Amino acid sequence: MSATFTGRAPGKLILLGEHSVVVGHRAIAAAVSRGTTVRLTDVEGPTRLGESSIQDDRLMTALRAVLPAEGLQVDIFTDLPVGRGMGSSAALAIALLRARAAREGRTPDFAELHHDGFLVERVFHGNPSGLDHCVVAMGGAVLYRRGEAPAPLQMPSYPVVVLDSGVAGDTGQLVAGVASRRPGVDPALMRLGELVELALRSLHDPHALGGIMCEAHARLGEIGVSTPDLDEMCALALQNGALGAKLSGAGGGGVVLALCPDGGEALVQAAARRKIAAFACRLPEA
Ligand code: PMV
Repeated sequence: MSATFTGRAPGKLILLGEHSVVVGHRAIAAAVSRGTTVRLTDVEGPTRLGESSIQDDRLMTALRAVLPAEGLQVDIFTDLPVGRGMGSSAALAIALLRARAAREGRTPDFAELHHDGFLVERVFHGNPSGLDHCVVAMGGAVLYRRGEAPAPLQMPSYPVVVLDSGVAGDTGQLVAGVASRRPGVDPALMRLGELVELALRSLHDPHALGGIMCEAHARLGEIGVSTPDLDEMCALALQNGALGAKLSGAGGGGVVLALCPDGGEALVQAAARRKIAAFACRLPEA
């Protein structure tokens, strides 16, 4: 039997602050209770991909960025929707690095995960802000401002439902689109930044947090990154008892995040599932 080594990492959701984080405001993101497991098996010959629930032409390039060229089979298992702004590439990166370190009989520190995780993220995203793989590596909730060290954030773990539009938004294009609409969208970007600061004072009040999320979704619409489908998914969640709902991530597709009262996830999930894929999880991961 060949030796096998595994690593796991969660996915992430942005609670508040997408797009305004690009222009220097703070954002709140958190790891979720779904994620990715990587299994490394020692084999003869060049490093190769075995089983994978992620299909992407860039996968081998990403693996080569951080693994030895020879001697490994890489199997990848994920229950995250891929390409929907839930950090599937970041979870892959961090799970891979944890498996690599396990094979070497050690636990990787944050500096290694941060540095080498970025090498993998760049294969998929060009020049990302770095928020995704920081949150995924740290776990829990994180307060993030571009250019500063991410800070862990204490907050309760809330039940949420993730509604999947089934469409991948192109983060680069959406960010460029917002930039092209400045300075017209600057007041909305400013307000999105303020909503993060308000939320930081309401982290223990899910009703207040829900209201802030709803306003954030409206402002994200004003800067041009929502879609009629995303608006409809938010309305559906709210009609079925969600305390708040907003797109999460770059928009243009991706997912809607619905904050639920305790025990309220089943109703939102059932209503959503008549139309689209939806699943319940905890934010931050429990
Ligand atoms: O697509 P995601 O979930 O990684 O979200 C992108 C978030 C943006 O603020 C739109 C861009 C960024 O680099 O922070």
